[in-house]
Amino acid sequence: MLDPKEVAAREAVKAVKDGMTIGIGTGSTAAFAIRAIGERVKLEGLHVRAVATSSRSREMAAEWGIPLIDLCEVEALDLTIDGADQVGPNLSLIKGGGGALLREKIVAQASRELIIICDETKRQMPFGQHPLPVAVVPFGHTLTRRRLERFCQKVLLRPKAPDSPEPYLTDDGLYIYDMHMETIADPPQLEQRLKQIVGVVEVGLFNGLASRVLFGFHDGHVEELLP
Ligand code: A5P
Repeated sequence: MLDPKEVAAREAVKAVKDGMTIGIGTGSTAAFAIRAIGERVKLEGLHVRAVATSSRSREMAAEWGIPLIDLCEVEALDLTIDGADQVGPNLSLIKGGGGALLREKIVAQASRELIIICDETKRQMPFGQHPLPVAVVPFGHTLTRRRLERFCQKVLLRPKAPDSPEPYLTDDGLYIYDMHMETIADPPQLEQRLKQIVGVVEVGLFNGLASRVLFGFHDGHVEELLP
């Protein structure tokens, strides 16, 4: 039996062409893509330059011999491959389970094409069932939380580790609040309203950014979802 995440990742990596500048995502599914790109660099001599969306992915890409650049060195990226926590209507996504939502969104917006890879569990729940991560500035964060609570009652500061009293810190020194919305009826409107809160830096709702979503299956087949 194959790992569905790896099946989706390997299919997506076929879209990487020689000479491309690519974005690489964060999370367990994106890790399979990094590995598959690394194999192509080693075995085929594929030439790519990559921007990583987190320090974790950057380290992994370096280990696999993928040449890394800073996003500021380019005007745009040809292609980004990344995972998602949930896929909803019109390819709206919830992202940030791995804490990298800000860099992931900057990279996604800079990309001509964004391929999302996942297993089908990511589309089974009602959209909004997965907690929505929101990156906030630490200064005055409890006041920011109160404003988030106007949208849903359960808003939890993400801890560094499950029982740690310390908050999780992103690569950019931000805290993450996970909003347990249960359902999100209008993702673009929610994204817009949350971003109006001073103290919120980014919201893990990705609307209108994904070009396609690839779902991998145990038997090796892939289903593609287009906007
Ligand atoms: C990282 O911050 C997230 O946006 C990931 O893309 C998301 O959490 C998916 O992770 P998995 O591939 O590990 O499920």
